[in-house]
Amino acid sequence: MRTFEEYRQMTEEALLPALSSLGDIPPLLLEAMEYSLKAGGKRIRPVLLTAACEMAGGSAGDAREFACALEMIHTYSLIHDDLPAMDNDDLRRGRPTNHKVYGEDMAILAGDGLLNAAAELMLRSAAETGDLRRVKAAEIILRHAGVTGMIAGQTEDITSEGKTPREETVRRIHEHKTSELLEAAVEAGLALGGAGEKEISAGHEYALHLGLAFQMTDDLLDVTGDTSQLGKHPGKDQEQHKMTWIALRGVEGTAEDARKEVRAACEALEQLPWDTAFFSDFAESLLGRNM
Ligand code: IPE
Ligand code: IPE
Ligand code: MG
Ligand code: MG
Ligand code: MG
Repeated sequence: MRTFEEYRQMTEEALLPALSSLGDIPPLLLEAMEYSLKAGGKRIRPVLLTAACEMAGGSAGDAREFACALEMIHTYSLIHDDLPAMDNDDLRRGRPTNHKVYGEDMAILAGDGLLNAAAELMLRSAAETGDLRRVKAAEIILRHAGVTGMIAGQTEDITSEGKTPREETVRRIHEHKTSELLEAAVEAGLALGGAGEKEISAGHEYALHLGLAFQMTDDLLDVTGDTSQLGKHPGKDQEQHKMTWIALRGVEGTAEDARKEVRAACEALEQLPWDTAFFSDFAESLLGRNM
């Protein structure tokens, strides 16, 4: 197995060429899309996708377009998440948010563009190869990103602002807005590598708990984090009366629950027939993250 850094580097190299491979994009639109793509996220989702594909017996090449597509979808979700009509943020990945640089009109279009480019890339690779595993992976990714997945979570995140926190609701928000794209990564990677339904379902369970732990630590960092490390402004959740895990359980309770979710994620890995150290190490590393 490769290291996180090796997988991250592969994503960095593939991302912009994948976008350009789609043909002539209006220069301003391309610039706005590349601005956010290049801003240097942690690349967690494409890394997990590629690692899952290799773990199941596939190659990094089998995963390339799908890893890029998923990072494009994640990046679009952040551009739109930061818009004034949503979380109204002016700093992301250490740089001014997309709409601060290109205006709200272009930021909306850059997000639209990244989502569409992602679908195009995945379906082009499925059509060109006739590989049914690629069709399946595209369906998995678009479903988890879609109206029963990430977009559903963003909807409930927005409509729950200012309401009294309820565990059931916060959990559902986290599962949808955050776990779904991690589920997309692991499940699509496994499918591309040729895994069967049983393995994909164990991968789903791992990513579900991983996502909960990830969003709990994101909510924690919004209270305890530092702008220069986070690359985004902390304190925004409270300012906007978000229904976060912190609002429900406080800092200590959230940290404790994140540890439980990491344990649950690692337990799910026991159902897999491969060496899963990469995935358990990654889950453990979330507990110490500061960015
Ligand atoms: C931020 O995701 C959005 C959440 C789901 C909390 P990341 O923390 O993975 O963002 P980048 O890609 O590293 O910027
Ligand atoms: C964003 O959650 C999740 C998605 C974009 C799908 P947050 O609103 O908590 O993310 P940050 O804190 O702005 O990165
Ligand atoms: Mg948000
Ligand atoms: Mg936000
Ligand atoms: Mg947040």
